[in-house]
Amino acid sequence: MSEEKIYRTDESRPLVELTHVEKHFGDLHVLKDINLKVAKGEVLVVVGPSGSGKSTMCRTINRLETIDSGDIRIDGKPLPQEGRELARLRAEVGMVFQSFNLFANKTILENVALAPIRVRHMAKKDAEDQAMELLARVGVDSQASKMPAQLSGGQQQRVAIARALAMHPKVMLFDEPTSALDPEMVNEVLDVMIELAHEGMTMICVTHEMGFARRAADRIVFMADGQILEEAAPDEFFDHPKSDRAKDFLSKILTH
Ligand SMILES: Nc1ncnc2c1ncn2[C@@H]1O[C@H](COP(=O)(O)OP(=O)(O)OP(=O)(O)O)[C@@H](O)[C@H]1O
Ligand SMILES: [Mg+2]
Repeated sequence: MSEEKIYRTDESRPLVELTHVEKHFGDLHVLKDINLKVAKGEVLVVVGPSGSGKSTMCRTINRLETIDSGDIRIDGKPLPQEGRELARLRAEVGMVFQSFNLFANKTILENVALAPIRVRHMAKKDAEDQAMELLARVGVDSQASKMPAQLSGGQQQRVAIARALAMHPKVMLFDEPTSALDPEMVNEVLDVMIELAHEGMTMICVTHEMGFARRAADRIVFMADGQILEEAAPDEFFDHPKSDRAKDFLSKILTH
């Protein structure tokens, strides 16, 4: 870990803070007393078995899911309930999903320029200039006039990242962004994420890419059955997992 990272992760006020968060889906207790602080510039990787609540936790952070009780704050402010404030929050918290979710009937350029125009009231020309810069940054500027279906999965996912960045988010959430991709396209997306991490973006990433987790994460959070069971630096977590659940999980995931 670089000194710069240590400094940044030591900042006193967390950028994202979950306190005693509880959530049920009917009888299913999906989030159990979740307490989590993410510092500005920190890269957090969330791992755990299927159904452990990783996606649900991510989705509560931009209020795609409501919570039963507890508190979630972004930059010290509680999550807004609805309306314009909620739209602003969604813009501050970029989210990239497993499925790319691009607008199928809009060009790549339009996909990236649209929200800044509509939500931030940016002038069209400025939004398009910014979109081109972002597309260049993720290496797909030559595809700007194409439709999403004409791009590979890896290219579409990089466009999805550019689209989220266009809103200047304070934090980026990634929920298994590479798990729907063909293997040869995984690295082109992970490379963009690693670059973002180096640039100081605050990131919460759910991923099964353990190489990425070791390289890019400041901290690993291991979830099982709706609980955070372990939180540790990557080397500590991978080399010395404490709980039997984590040992079992790692033995399964690291052998294929
Ligand atoms: N909208 C929903 N309604 C009811 N149950 C849900 C809903 N969304 C998720 N669940 C359930 O909540 C639990 C946690 O799901 P979640 O998607 O958060 O897990 P996950 O850790 O992301 O799993 P995976 O690794 O498979 O993506 C699962 O048992 C799931 O079936
Ligand atoms: Mg999930």
